[in-house]
Amino acid sequence: MILLKPHGYEAYGITSTACLVPIDGPWLPLDPSCPNLVLASPSRLKRAHALCAHDELAETLEAVDVPDRQGESIWARERDFHDALARQLDVDALSVNRQPGPLDHVMLDLAGDLRGLRILDAGCGQGDLTLHLLQQGANVTALDVSPGMIEVVRSRASRLPDTGGQLATVAAPLEQSELPDASFDLVLGKYILHHIDVSSGALELRRVLRPGGRAIFIENAGDNRLLIFARDRLAGRWGIPRLGTEDEHPLTAGDIAGLRGVFSRVVAHYPVFEFLVLFDRQVLRFKSRRASRIIRGIDNAVHRRIPRLRRYSYRVIVELEV
Ligand SMILES: C[S@@+](CC[C@H](N)C(=O)[O-])C[C@H]1O[C@@H](n2cnc3c(N)ncnc32)[C@H](O)[C@@H]1O
Repeated sequence: MILLKPHGYEAYGITSTACLVPIDGPWLPLDPSCPNLVLASPSRLKRAHALCAHDELAETLEAVDVPDRQGESIWARERDFHDALARQLDVDALSVNRQPGPLDHVMLDLAGDLRGLRILDAGCGQGDLTLHLLQQGANVTALDVSPGMIEVVRSRASRLPDTGGQLATVAAPLEQSELPDASFDLVLGKYILHHIDVSSGALELRRVLRPGGRAIFIENAGDNRLLIFARDRLAGRWGIPRLGTEDEHPLTAGDIAGLRGVFSRVVAHYPVFEFLVLFDRQVLRFKSRRASRIIRGIDNAVHRRIPRLRRYSYRVIVELEV
């Protein structure tokens, strides 16, 4: 029997013999013979439709009109956190020519020729990727839930020479972008999926992409139990910094399985193995170059020699096709 479980649990799906009902948080068991799955919000309805796309139960789903308060409060927390970061930036001192890093290159290689493409930079933050894409001649829509970050992007983009690419900006949650249907050839994003409700975000991505369009994301992955234990139990204690927002959640195999119900093609790439480097970053704080070299060498050796461990890397690149 498969159970429908909320985000972050190990498995989810739907059984026709038992239903769990999500009402803004806890999921309550219903009468096991219930004919319908009643959902607390439109976004949860969309999520369940995506999950059971190939299940006759999809036709029995039903929504009740309750706002998705949980989603809205997460967006507010994310917005406030990143607006505060944006206020701390010295925008004029930020270069507009930041070079892409190694993982960016993997993502950009997968994306191919960018000139003239309509690209959504999902969760653009301060806009390094947006600026790079504009300089490649792409027409870019930079979207972020933080209006402060959107202001930073606009200000930086105004310092770019004309590259032929056009910039549009949107301050909105990715899950409810209100962008037109089929309006993008490509969606790119760095460290955004693990900030959003992946299931409803996936449906929104599919909606705004043209048929055959693709999305590629660099993400934090959550399938290495040791790393997740350290993140949940050690970060924020004993002088180990806790980075990021309270609601973010590294992407799990369950999230990726959910994406398979929405996109025709889903590939998880593991171009690097990042494991010990997290210890270097969080505990040693990259203070010893020699230690960093050794640690990086061990991670690289694991990547080269033990391919089956690659999926336990902290970094994953997720490629999706409509
Ligand atoms: C870790 S930062 C990454 C920023 C940028 N992509 C980069 O790599 O520099 C995550 C960004 O996602 C934005 N964000 C968080 N939740 C979001 C949501 N639901 N919809 C859109 N943007 C969101 C945050 O405001 C933040 O700018």
